[in-house]
Amino acid sequence: MNTHPLNAWYAAAYDVEVQRQLTSRTVANQKMVLYRQLDGQVVALEDACWHRLLPLSMGRLDGDELVCGYHGLVYNAQGQCTHMPSQETINPSACVRAYPVAEKHRFVWVWPGDPLLADPALIPDLHWNHDPAWAADGKLITVACDYRLVLDNLMDLTHETFVHGSSIGNREVAEAPFVTTHGDRFATVTRWMENIEPPPFWASQLYQARGYRGKVDRWQIIRFEAPCTVTIDVGVAPAGSGAPQGDRSQGVNGFVLNTISPQTDTTCHYFWAFARNYCLTEQRLTHQLREGVAGIFREDEAVLEAQQQAINARPGHRFYNLNIDAGAMWARKLIDRLVAAETPDDPQRRVIPLRSVA
Ligand code: FES
Ligand SMILES: [Fe+2]
Repeated sequence: MNTHPLNAWYAAAYDVEVQRQLTSRTVANQKMVLYRQLDGQVVALEDACWHRLLPLSMGRLDGDELVCGYHGLVYNAQGQCTHMPSQETINPSACVRAYPVAEKHRFVWVWPGDPLLADPALIPDLHWNHDPAWAADGKLITVACDYRLVLDNLMDLTHETFVHGSSIGNREVAEAPFVTTHGDRFATVTRWMENIEPPPFWASQLYQARGYRGKVDRWQIIRFEAPCTVTIDVGVAPAGSGAPQGDRSQGVNGFVLNTISPQTDTTCHYFWAFARNYCLTEQRLTHQLREGVAGIFREDEAVLEAQQQAINARPGHRFYNLNIDAGAMWARKLIDRLVAAETPDDPQRRVIPLRSVA
């Protein structure tokens, strides 16, 4: 069974990464070449020339067209060959796949499956990444693990206590009760920790923004959207100031935005950002937070890559699930449903066959 559905929007790049040069990227086991047209629109083509399969990312742009770096076949943004050297007639089958592309919430999204199903309304909501009411920035890291291991990690934040003890982790995270809900495409895990000592990261944010030191009510509301996006509504407010009842006005609120695109079955592109709703004009803080969160995620990366290696060493190993795994189990169930809907014996299937990445 595939690890990921093909009929889905996957982030392929941060907006700033795609310019007037050719960028090669593998998403969902498919090699793509990305570039911007002169009007700024992003193009994603199969990264293999129709003629002799040279990666088109080794070619060059000529206006909005791409010239192969081997024998000079020219392709337009739809992937159709428009010129062949030394020949007047163009073979009508000369084309490469053009992937549906959309740019939204500071990411370039591609749809590796059936282009007819690529509905832009299905792009996950990550508006905090560019909403003026929030200050946000983030990064892309490529992690040597199945993207679902990252989802498992995000759906269960008890790991903060053990992996991120020096910043955001504290004993309460591992001990506080949580509530899990789910729908057809969503799963949520909500955890409130009331009247606790804040961990170092949040103590410093609340002091910088509101001048408050002392006990807090802390929240983590994790929301998974199938197949690979997780937003985490996090924050603290002075204990007893009404945050659990809905008044967060004295607190500080962040959103951790995560969308994880499978690159291959055992590697992934992990796009993340941290958005905050306080001290909005302090660029210094935006920079500090981005680097601080990047440091926290490096701790996750080490765990995830080691876990993938251990899984590779024990093929077929079955995992036992604990209460803390409830959110991740729902996430995986929803992914499995999307994958099952694309399986070959499904008469509705309209998936375009994959070209292998090897
Ligand atoms: S391989 Fe691209 S033109 Fe020959
Ligand atoms: Fe983590």
